[in-house]
Amino acid sequence: MIPDRALRKLKDLLGPENVLTRRDDLAPFGTDATKLSYMPDAVAFPGNAQDISRILVLANQEDFPVIPRGAGSGKSGGALPVRGGLVITMDRFNRILLIDPENLIAKVETGVITSVLQEEVEKLDLFYPPDPASTKISSIGGNIAENAGGLRAVKYGVTRDYVLGMTAVLPTGEVIKTGVETAKGVVGYDLTRLLVGSEGTLAVITDVTLRLIPKPPSTKTMMALFPTVSAAVETVSGMTRRKIVPTALELLDRLCIDSVREELGMSVPPECGALLLIEVDGEKTITKRDGKRIRDICLESGALGFVAASRKRDADKLWEARRNVSPSVYKLRPDKVSEDIVVPRTRMAEFSSFLDALGRKYELPIAAYGHAGDGNIHVNVLFDKKAPEEADKVERVVRELFRKVLEMKGTISGEHGIGLTKAAYLDMELSRPAIEVMARIKLAFDPKGILNPGKIFPYKV
Ligand code: LAC
Ligand code: ZN
Repeated sequence: MIPDRALRKLKDLLGPENVLTRRDDLAPFGTDATKLSYMPDAVAFPGNAQDISRILVLANQEDFPVIPRGAGSGKSGGALPVRGGLVITMDRFNRILLIDPENLIAKVETGVITSVLQEEVEKLDLFYPPDPASTKISSIGGNIAENAGGLRAVKYGVTRDYVLGMTAVLPTGEVIKTGVETAKGVVGYDLTRLLVGSEGTLAVITDVTLRLIPKPPSTKTMMALFPTVSAAVETVSGMTRRKIVPTALELLDRLCIDSVREELGMSVPPECGALLLIEVDGEKTITKRDGKRIRDICLESGALGFVAASRKRDADKLWEARRNVSPSVYKLRPDKVSEDIVVPRTRMAEFSSFLDALGRKYELPIAAYGHAGDGNIHVNVLFDKKAPEEADKVERVVRELFRKVLEMKGTISGEHGIGLTKAAYLDMELSRPAIEVMARIKLAFDPKGILNPGKIFPYKV
């Protein structure tokens, strides 16, 4: 609970129009892509780092939680106010401050929507590669908080690889600068890398300096159809063996194909049990050559069909359909638990057989899709909450899944983070001393535990 005097103080600090306290107004700020829902006590719209600093000082004095929120598209519940408190949205931090084509950097406030930045830099023939499926709805700040990956990570890496420095407000109210605005730098501990992926638990990031690269001059998008997931992922290994690194290399299994079949804009025959969407980029001669090599590898590996999108419109349609898989699988069943595991690329065929067996054992449909080029598969266990015999099984399925992934030397989250929904499983992957040193870092930043409590750690920190 936030005491009334603290709410009055907040309204004085930010202006009453920037603080919401009516129940009806609060609900949308208590949910995200997990569809879980928690009620905040209030929502604030700070306008600059100083506002956030004052809010955090007040929160320390009055002892209430503060939960930073980007665009609310998170998939692990990182922005949910699990213990009530004040949600601070970054909506007003929506300016692109600088795009510098000579130093190859951009400076942006963290509420900027990722695709807006991508479009702006591309007008100058520059490129911001991180490309989460949610690019049109997620914010740069949210991407940084979760260290988002996305479709182009296989060639270009993840959000962390493009963050050079930032302005951040510590939970105790001090405003700090981390990192650099230059191409490189090694001064002190790398707080920038620590804050990227810290899921809003260590600081509130208000602006960032991002690394840009020149925009690749052309792209080529292709779709290959396979009878089974195993055949598709064997093909992925074939590409890696032949030293081909596509810009994107995405897998959809049969259930995922069913969920976006109408949107693909190309017909997929019923005997197709998996498909790969593949993109290459670079000079036209290179994309042409790589496209041909990829086609040969797919057909040699037993592809049932192979098509290259001849028009940009067709390619855009394919990618749009791919980006829609996550919300579209709800067409198949009313509820899902959505995982984000990574296994070594060479073991994906073994993993896909395991998933088949897991689904059969628990008699639940499992839809799998994702960034096959990275070994990062989104495993969606589909069920119906209203059928208790199904809902009861889900937790067991997830534990068995994670056990297998870890046994295979994989990880339980590639790009969505731990947040709320995976916190109970953290100690399956990390040892006690590793979790304890993280807890001490949290304490060093946030002695009173007011910033985004209840996240990451399996116990109260
Ligand atoms: C995707 C999101 C869920 O790849 O990460 O669609
Ligand atoms: Zn993804």
